[in-house]
Amino acid sequence: MTQQYNLPTIHEYPDFDAFGKAFRLTERDLIVTSIYLYRGCVWMADGHDVPLNWKPVAQVMYRDHFGKGEPTDEMVNRMLAKRDELHASVPGGIDRIVAVGGGAILDIAKVLAVAPHGTKDVNDLYANMASLTRQHELIAIPSTCGTGCEVTNISVIFRTPLGTKHGLVSDALYPVHAVLIPEALVRLPYEVFASSAIDALIHATESFLSPLATEETKAQSREAISGILQGFCEVAEDRAALRKLFGHFLHCSMVAGLAFGNAGCGPVHALSFALGGKYHVPHGESCYQYFLPVLRYYKARRPDGERLQELEALLRDVLHAEDGFAALAALLERILPRKPMSAYGAVEADVAAFARSTIDNQQRLLARAYVPVDYEAALAIEAECL
Ligand SMILES: NC(=O)c1ccc[n+]([C@@H]2O[C@H](COP(=O)([O-])OP(=O)(O)OC[C@H]3O[C@@H](n4cnc5c(N)ncnc54)[C@H](O)[C@@H]3O)[C@@H](O)[C@H]2O)c1
Ligand SMILES: [Fe+2]
Repeated sequence: MTQQYNLPTIHEYPDFDAFGKAFRLTERDLIVTSIYLYRGCVWMADGHDVPLNWKPVAQVMYRDHFGKGEPTDEMVNRMLAKRDELHASVPGGIDRIVAVGGGAILDIAKVLAVAPHGTKDVNDLYANMASLTRQHELIAIPSTCGTGCEVTNISVIFRTPLGTKHGLVSDALYPVHAVLIPEALVRLPYEVFASSAIDALIHATESFLSPLATEETKAQSREAISGILQGFCEVAEDRAALRKLFGHFLHCSMVAGLAFGNAGCGPVHALSFALGGKYHVPHGESCYQYFLPVLRYYKARRPDGERLQELEALLRDVLHAEDGFAALAALLERILPRKPMSAYGAVEADVAAFARSTIDNQQRLLARAYVPVDYEAALAIEAECL
């Protein structure tokens, strides 16, 4: 019988100390994080200059020791080997995996939680995604406010044989616990905050326009879109306001994750992967590239579409503007000025190559388009972004 996996239980704690007291980690638990986050947030976050009682007990694996940037199959394979080594050396084996990080670390930890012990290559898991089972309970603590990864059943890895990022999807990938700790964002650089929050806004928007949207996911999308835009208005006026909005943005990105976890993302994400993979553009920034061009494409092709009009009405309402899309573009420009694709190194030849790669590799996401995106449409959008 196929095993059923549920959505994670959501917890909120003001700081890591409260989390540690509630979850009582042992030497059989494995923390997966970065050196910076461990030293800067997990360990020292609330002014302690000695490790808090729960932290030194658990095993720790630093992502930095296995590679940089967003996850690749090669990096994940090295981390799988280390997980197996620790599993064999800890009496009783590794029990829970506690991931503290942005989407990159959370996505890696999702694979570590489901890959059967002895797995040599994460690429081997894609053929039978549906049959994956949970090997370790995963506790996911996001340190950015974008991916919503803590409540989704997908892990996005760069696959060398395909030359692009690709989603591994299975309900076994749901974390068991999603833990929101505003303190995790205290040292987040402004640009990472901005691009990750824009990613969350795109999750909410793409799922709102998805053909799979339901009344429930639409309500979640609306909540996330309004919340993120209201937060952006405050931050655009006064950047210091961000300090009191960490919990708010974490909540919004989690709600956007719930929405896209059910209704799915669409062409903005589909288009982002070729650029992100080839020029190592951070996920939020590569999605931002295509966000407004895709909305403009929808509007040009289907101006009277009911859902698009609902979205525009929501934007007008939240942004107190007559033209919702124009106000959205102006606000985003104040939060994070958008660079052309060429600023990341893209050249003329990439336009056709990226369009081709999107059509060939991203049909799962393109199926959720509000207006179908074919090769010609992808080509025109890529050319606009160059
Ligand atoms: N699985 C999903 O549902 C899903 C959804 C969207 C995106 N993703 C994936 O998530 C990844 C992007 O995640 P992201 O936007 O969270 O960024 P990230 O995890 O790539 O982190 C961006 C940078 O910020 C640093 N950082 C993260 N948190 C920090 C903190 N609190 N303080 C200081 N520095 C910090 C990281 O070390 C890194 O250098 C991509 O690989 C993308 O494909 C997954
Ligand atoms: Fe995303």
